[in-house]
Amino acid sequence: MYKYIYNFYEVRIFFSISEINTSSDYLIATTLKENNMKSNKEFVASIVEGNQALFKASQLNVAEYFNNMPDEDALVEHFVGRMVNERMNMVEISNNIASMPADSDPIELQNLTKQANDEAIHFRLVKEVIEHIKGEEVDVAKAIADEEAKPTAKGASLLEKYDADSDPAALAAYQLVAEGRAEAVWNTMADVIEDEFISTRYAKIAKDEGFHSTIGAMKLETLVGDAETQARVEELVSNMRKDLYEISCKNTSHNAEGQKLVSEAYGW
Ligand SMILES: [Fe+2]
Ligand SMILES: [Fe+2]
Repeated sequence: MYKYIYNFYEVRIFFSISEINTSSDYLIATTLKENNMKSNKEFVASIVEGNQALFKASQLNVAEYFNNMPDEDALVEHFVGRMVNERMNMVEISNNIASMPADSDPIELQNLTKQANDEAIHFRLVKEVIEHIKGEEVDVAKAIADEEAKPTAKGASLLEKYDADSDPAALAAYQLVAEGRAEAVWNTMADVIEDEFISTRYAKIAKDEGFHSTIGAMKLETLVGDAETQARVEELVSNMRKDLYEISCKNTSHNAEGQKLVSEAYGW
């Protein structure tokens, strides 16, 4: 009998908690609606969705560039820029890790150190590709010095431009936009370049860049719980998209269909 009564109360308590949960979900949804705000998950999903026109346009630029069969010198110059960019990514992400606060999430530290190691591998893989094309060793110090003297447009320069080392939201936004675009672009290169030595390496790079973009999405989701941050990230992201599109046009081609896509999506 007592057991029955106890169970009865237990069931009652369970229902009451469910009612509270349902009503608190309702309250959160109502508050988000009143503030004209998306939930953290919805916000990140909308950024991912909004990136697609940039990714597609960049892929069209890259495909057009390689389908026009650049000569060996142009190819080497192009890949030297990519090699330096990968090395720059490694340095910038490492600087970030080094300045992270003591109470940082250990998993986040693991993910970012994995990314820094991936970028070091990408730097080596692109270096090997250049050596495969030229048939001689690359003088990396000279390549970096030449790049510094006459810089070509590079995505990794945005980490510095947007103060990613002191602004976690800027770093996460960069990962979501720039690393996601990198995944799309490396995949296109792996598809359009027939040389297997190059295409297998570039497919491996693409896969890692996808992981880096996921790290950004996970981090961003923890940071965008208020309307002010959402508005700030929205603006950051739209500036980054524009910068990355300009970099893509400078480094590869300016494809007409791609231009139409970004004009329709972003009004540029
Ligand atoms: Fe990379
Ligand atoms: Fe990356």
